Amino acid sequence: MLIKHSKRTIRSGCKKCGDKSLYWAHDTAQSGDDHCDKCQTSGKWVLIDAAGEPHKCGNDVTPVAEKTDAGSVSVEVKASVREGDSVSNSTDHAAPLTGSGDAFAAFQSLVASLAPKVDRDEVSAMIKRELDNVIVPTRTVVERVTGVRRVIANSHEKLADITTDLLAGEHVMMVGPAGTGKSTIAEQAAESIGIPYYSISLSPMTSASQILGYMQAEGEYVRSLFREAFEHGGVFHFDEFDNGHPSVLAVINASLANGQMAFPDQMVKRNPDFRCVASANTYGRGADRAYVGRQQIDAATLDRFSVETISVDEALETSLCLATGLDKVMIDKVLKFVRTLRKNAEERAMSVVISPRASVGMCRLLAAGKSWDSAVESRIHRGMSEKDWNKLSSNR
Ligand SMILES: Nc1ncnc2c1ncn2[C@@H]1O[C@H](COP(=O)(O)OP(=O)(O)OP(=O)(O)O)[C@@H](O)[C@H]1O
Ligand SMILES: [Mg+2]
Repeated sequence: MLIKHSKRTIRSGCKKCGDKSLYWAHDTAQSGDDHCDKCQTSGKWVLIDAAGEPHKCGNDVTPVAEKTDAGSVSVEVKASVREGDSVSNSTDHAAPLTGSGDAFAAFQSLVASLAPKVDRDEVSAMIKRELDNVIVPTRTVVERVTGVRRVIANSHEKLADITTDLLAGEHVMMVGPAGTGKSTIAEQAAESIGIPYYSISLSPMTSASQILGYMQAEGEYVRSLFREAFEHGGVFHFDEFDNGHPSVLAVINASLANGQMAFPDQMVKRNPDFRCVASANTYGRGADRAYVGRQQIDAATLDRFSVETISVDEALETSLCLATGLDKVMIDKVLKFVRTLRKNAEERAMSVVISPRASVGMCRLLAAGKSWDSAVESRIHRGMSEKDWNKLSSNR
C-alpha cells in the first residue's frame, strides 16, 4: 500500500527526470525502511504523482540516499529559513526526515552550518568602535511645576540632585576633589531654578565685612553680594568653604540659623528664595593629605547643610575634551592616560590631584600644537619628584 507522506510537492524534483509534481510516500509492501512517526507506518520511501500512482521513470529512490544527501536537504532548509518558516515546517516539505534522533541531529547541524559565522572578538571590537563615537548626553532637563523647562547643556550628573535639594528648601554643601565641577554646578543650579547667582571664594583672609557689608565713615552702608541674596533671594555660593576663617563661618552659620540677620545698618528678614550652596574639598574635618590647610567646620554649621559628594563625571569630562577640537583619537589617548593616573593616585594614596582640568588642559595644549611630553609636563608632571612620578605612572 502507498501512504502519501508529504502535503506539498517535492522541491528539487526527481533526480532522474526532473519532475517536480511528485510527493513522497511510504510503500508499506516494501520493507526495510525506518518507521515514520508522522505517518505511523513503515515502508520504502517512494515518489508518487498527484493521482497517487507510483512515479515510474526508473528512479529508484532509497531512503538512505535521500536522508544522507546533505546537498538536497540543505537547499530545502535554506529556502525555508529565508522564507521565515519555522524549523518544524521546513521538515514537512523538505526531503522526508523521519523522527529518528540521527536525522534531527543532522538537520540541526545543517542549520548551524548555514548560520552566519560570528567572530566574537570582531563583533566586540565593532560595538566598541561604535560606542566610542557616541557622545553621551550630559544635559540636565529641569521642568518646573509652572511648566517652564530649562535644558542645561554640559552638566554634571549631580546637577539634578542639587537642584532638587535647593527646590526642597535645603542649603547644600558639595564635597569633592578639585576640578570636579562644584562651582559650575552651583551656578547652573541657580540658572535652572531661575534665581540670581552670587559667589564668593573664602580664604583665611576673608573678613566678615565682605559677607555682611560695612558702614563707611560718612555713615553710609556699603552693601555686599550676600546682602543682595539674603534680602532679595538668590543662590549664594561659598566657594572653598573649608578654607574660610572660623569667625566667618560663624557669621554664615548665624545667617542660616535664623529667619533674620543683623547687618551693619539694620535687621534684615531672610527672603524665602535665599539658598546657600557651599563647596569644599573636604567634609569639614580639617586638612587631609591632598588638601592641607583646610579648616575644621563646626558641627552646628555642617548641620545646616545637605551634603552631596561630587566625583569626576567621566561623561562630562569626555564632552569637555571634545569641545577643545582635538582629534578624537588623541582625546581617547589623553583620557586613557589621565584616568589611569587618576586611578593610580587614588589606589596608591598619593596626594596629587588629577582632575578633569588635567585632561581638558592637555587636550587644549595638544590642539594648540604642543608635543605630548610637553603637555604632560605642563598639566600633570609639574616638577613632581622622579620617585612620585614612577609611583604614579608605573603599571603594577
Ligand atoms: N558643566 C561644565 N561645563 C563647562 N565647563 C565645566 C563644567 N564643569 C566644569 N567645567 C570646567 O572645569 C573646570 C573645573 O570646574 P569647577 O571650577 O566648577 O570645579 P570645582 O570642583 O569647583 O573646582 P575646585 O575644587 O578647584 O574649586 C573649570 O575650568 C570649569 O570651567
Ligand atoms: Mg570651585
